[in-house]
Amino acid sequence: MGDAARDSDIGACVFDAYGTLFDVNAAAERCRDALGDKADALSAVWRTKQLEYTWLRSLRGDYVDFWHVTGHSLDYALAAVGIKDDALRTRLMELYFVLDAYADVQPTLERIRAAGMRTAILSNGSPSMLIAAVRHAGLERLINDLLSVDAVGIYKPHPSSYQLAVDRLKLPAERICFLSANPWDVSGAALFGFRVVWINRFGRMPERLPGTPKHEIRTLDDLPPLLGL
Ligand code: LAC
Repeated sequence: MGDAARDSDIGACVFDAYGTLFDVNAAAERCRDALGDKADALSAVWRTKQLEYTWLRSLRGDYVDFWHVTGHSLDYALAAVGIKDDALRTRLMELYFVLDAYADVQPTLERIRAAGMRTAILSNGSPSMLIAAVRHAGLERLINDLLSVDAVGIYKPHPSSYQLAVDRLKLPAERICFLSANPWDVSGAALFGFRVVWINRFGRMPERLPGTPKHEIRTLDDLPPLLGL
């Protein structure tokens, strides 16, 4: 691991949201009373389908926002594990608005902001989902810009989605430090030209695709030293 991030002229730290800041398994976890031993399977299928539907809709050119994608993928997941329960569906969807942030998020953001570094979220999440999640986690004062791909109507890893950060932050891609726990997002963002740090929370394998991160760390606790903070 080199000093590429520390060196430089980073103008902003831009974070992916789901899986990076917010725990996507928290909704199913909080419904374990109703889901029982199907909770983990439901959560895994829900997330996998949610991502597949973003990619498929981007290819097909029939964008709907992430809230609808999240609902459609939940419907698939509930059917896949053999559950038909409208009240439980409503409860899971409401919980998606108030997912827990990982424990390393707030302290790391505090350190980055205390050093005067600009912060943003660039996410597939719809604006209302992102506002709710950030508010629930008490992160409003720690995130300067909330950027949703809803503004461009296509999902990550399409280059237009990453371009949104360049345009809104008025920074060239190479001055943006992009952080994600999702390997496909890491690869797409690196190919686009961001300086990427992979928060490999789950010990995932790297994608076999062009676009490699500058750094790989295990948790956000390892980020401030990388930035020289
Ligand atoms: C996001 C998803 C991809 O927040 O995790 O954009």
